[in-house]
Amino acid sequence: MTRTDPESIAKGRELYESKCYFCHEAYSNKPGVGPGHKGILKNPLFPVSKKPATPENAAIQIRRPFRDMPAFTYLSDDQINNIIAFLYTL
Ligand code: HEC
Repeated sequence: MTRTDPESIAKGRELYESKCYFCHEAYSNKPGVGPGHKGILKNPLFPVSKKPATPENAAIQIRRPFRDMPAFTYLSDDQINNIIAFLYTL
């Protein structure tokens, strides 16, 4: 179940700002080091791998990235679920 409560989203945003924002534009599709994330989980497919844009595939991308993105193996399931809650708002 994807989290939609404001507390999870706020925690996810904080994690995103410290771990992801460096390489990804949250509110546009302008490419940085990685693709922009506007609509990342609202569009049908992920921009680079073209995998279905599901919460499962987002979690996989964070732990075992498709290509050049660093792996965030140290993040807990709880932290990843909060990041995904935030990604859904983009
Ligand atoms: C050092 C740069 C960097 C950081 C930090 C980074 N990414 Fe990425 N990201 C990339 C690159 C490069 C790609 C292109 C695909 C690849 O290399 O796996 C990407 C692709 C993605 C994609 C799309 C994957 C696809 O299949 O098209 C998602 C979703 C994503 N990143 C989420 C995140 C999240 C969430 C974080 C923070 C936990 C994060 N990224 C942190 C560089 C980064």
